[in-house]
Amino acid sequence: MINARSKLGGIHIKINAGRLKQHFEEMSEIGKIGETGICRPAQSDIEKQAFELASKWMKEAGMTVRLDHFGNLIGRLEGKDPEKPVLMLGSHLDSQPYGGRFDGTAGVIAAIEVVTTLTEHGITPDHPIEVISFADEEGWRFNKGLFGSRGILGLLEEGELLRKDKDGITRQQALIDFGCNPNEWKQSVYPPNSIAAYLELHIEQGPVLEKLDQKVGIVTAISGPLWLTVKITGFAGHAGSVPMNNRQDALVGAAEIIVALNEIVKKDPTAPTVGTVGAINVFPNSPNIIPEKVEFTVDLRDIDINRRGLYESKLRECIHKIAEKHLLTFEISEDTNSEPRDCADWIKNLIRKECNEKGIEAPELISGPFHDALIMSYACDYGMIFVRCKDGISHNPAEYASYDDLAIGTDIMYGTVLKMIHHLQPSLTN
Ligand code: CO
Repeated sequence: MINARSKLGGIHIKINAGRLKQHFEEMSEIGKIGETGICRPAQSDIEKQAFELASKWMKEAGMTVRLDHFGNLIGRLEGKDPEKPVLMLGSHLDSQPYGGRFDGTAGVIAAIEVVTTLTEHGITPDHPIEVISFADEEGWRFNKGLFGSRGILGLLEEGELLRKDKDGITRQQALIDFGCNPNEWKQSVYPPNSIAAYLELHIEQGPVLEKLDQKVGIVTAISGPLWLTVKITGFAGHAGSVPMNNRQDALVGAAEIIVALNEIVKKDPTAPTVGTVGAINVFPNSPNIIPEKVEFTVDLRDIDINRRGLYESKLRECIHKIAEKHLLTFEISEDTNSEPRDCADWIKNLIRKECNEKGIEAPELISGPFHDALIMSYACDYGMIFVRCKDGISHNPAEYASYDDLAIGTDIMYGTVLKMIHHLQPSLTN
């Protein structure tokens, strides 16, 4: 069956916008919180339900489906030559604990729609195409994200299986409960040169496209995130009796550090650098005890790795000074450290060509948020298509992208995939 509707706002489209909308609506029911929110933790029963629904659609699109040992869901459309490297499309179905319906989900649903449209048009590329829903992109459950993409490239670090969630469940146990076998990880790693290219559609999660009144954008690069955990230790005491000049209040120190980070990052208003303290734990967390221990996260991102490095060293210097001032000790550990990564010119050009053919203006923009594409860039060329979202809101139940914009974005993805297939075939058949 070819799609019933072929025009959207004057633009000819080949994907099925009605089916796409239907898929979004069905997926939005899984892990639903409130009217529009989603809570779909990585490696949970809820994510499993989402995988089952996506598997059904993948099979309908003619793909074979597997769950790998990292907890990635992978659908494969066999190529005319199964030995050829894979053209990979994907994103993630896990969400923030208080998240929206489109972050990640848009990329998976769009990729499935692209493959469905290919098979409906009787197109079998030489290269296999895989649609992947990456495991634990978000990273909040075990405080380390991009797990599935790092997994398939053999980039996991020592001790990752021992990381615990807030209920004390280790990653190892969560994976086993999810139906994976961490002892078999090696089987799920992609050998070098087995992925030809990677393409991901994602909602922008920022306000740029909406401000420019454009439906879609072409990503040029992803900023590199640095995640730190800072532990500050002072000395507990009675809030009523210890005099102010005799305190080692860890929370006062932490508060000064948080303000300092904000000031460091804001110093150059023209730079896209962002710095956030988003999670904090206070011990013993009692109204009448001077806080003894405070642990908080730092998230620092920039498109320029040197500037990020400079800001990081300024922050470390401030932590040192502030700790000294309040007689506190501190420890800083690094959870994630990625450099910014550029999108491949040839893929950006193909997206641009597709947009031009459709008469769609698509501005270029950088991605502040990271995505699995950041990791995939270490294995192959990658490209990203952004779809505008309302008020730039994301990681929030209010996150919204219109079905029309998503359909246009998905159709551009479809056209880009066709062009990528043509691009790859001559260069890799020798
Ligand atoms: Co995402």
